[in-house]
Amino acid sequence: MTAYLKIDHIDKSFERGGARTDVLKDVTLTIDKGEFVSIIGHSGCGKSTLLNLIAGLTRVTAGAVLLENQEVNAPGPERAVVFQNHSLLPWLTVYENVNLAVAKVFAGKKSRAEKHEWVMRNLDLVQMAHAKDKRPAEISGGMKQRVGIARALAMEPKILLLDEPFGALDALTRAHLQDAVMEIHSRLGNTMIMITHDVDEAVLLSDRIVMMTNGPAARIGEILDVPIPRPRDRIALAADRTYLKSREAVLKFLYERHRFVEAAE
Ligand SMILES: Nc1ncnc2c1ncn2[C@@H]1O[C@H](COP(=O)(O)OP(=O)(O)O)[C@@H](O)[C@H]1O
Ligand SMILES: [Mg+2]
Repeated sequence: MTAYLKIDHIDKSFERGGARTDVLKDVTLTIDKGEFVSIIGHSGCGKSTLLNLIAGLTRVTAGAVLLENQEVNAPGPERAVVFQNHSLLPWLTVYENVNLAVAKVFAGKKSRAEKHEWVMRNLDLVQMAHAKDKRPAEISGGMKQRVGIARALAMEPKILLLDEPFGALDALTRAHLQDAVMEIHSRLGNTMIMITHDVDEAVLLSDRIVMMTNGPAARIGEILDVPIPRPRDRIALAADRTYLKSREAVLKFLYERHRFVEAAE
């Protein structure tokens, strides 16, 4: 069987002014359809670079990204990205921001009425239909992230790529949005890849956690399975053995890598 998403022996280097930085070295990972995978690692190790390669926003130096056996080498609506800082257009309303993506992706495929219905359905999914006529400056950070998620989902992506989507939010808002994403994932069954540096968030949301070594030339250090049945409840999990063991495994990985870097300097 061929993998749904295959990250196949990827290297990524950046060159600037004759200087070369090797960011990723020999990264290989396969992800199944419907899986929720988190990527965790210290700041600067190359997590966003890896996500951008999957998004097609950056080109690989060596290796390939394959989605259903097709090589990815440009951005596409089947791989929608949600960034940490919402990238909504400030002069458009919530509705118009989502509609812009819908109009582009479904041009000639959905009627005007169908597009309207689809925008509203996706705003409903993130509980933002009530704010459809507001502009980004008039809503909270958490609400902006919800709209960003609605916009990404409205493209009906095969894969949703989330780059620290809750990183700029307060703890309560973050918890609400994590629950919203878990619910959307269970309802739509889509494949999600999320970058985080929050250990609890990674364990709560993921089927697997990919732990990256420190850069330069970062690799996948370990992959942890999180065999906790869904739906998951954050309060019940606080005392769950599997949850606590998973959490400990990630903390150990990050802590040991961290020490390793300090010792090497
Ligand atoms: N466009 C770029 N040009 C040069 N270097 C880059 C570029 N993008 C990222 N890098 C470098 O790649 C490394 C990894 O960055 P990044 O993927 O953003 O890390 P993370 O998301 O894990 O914090 C950093 O050292 C960063 O400076
Ligand atoms: Mg990053």
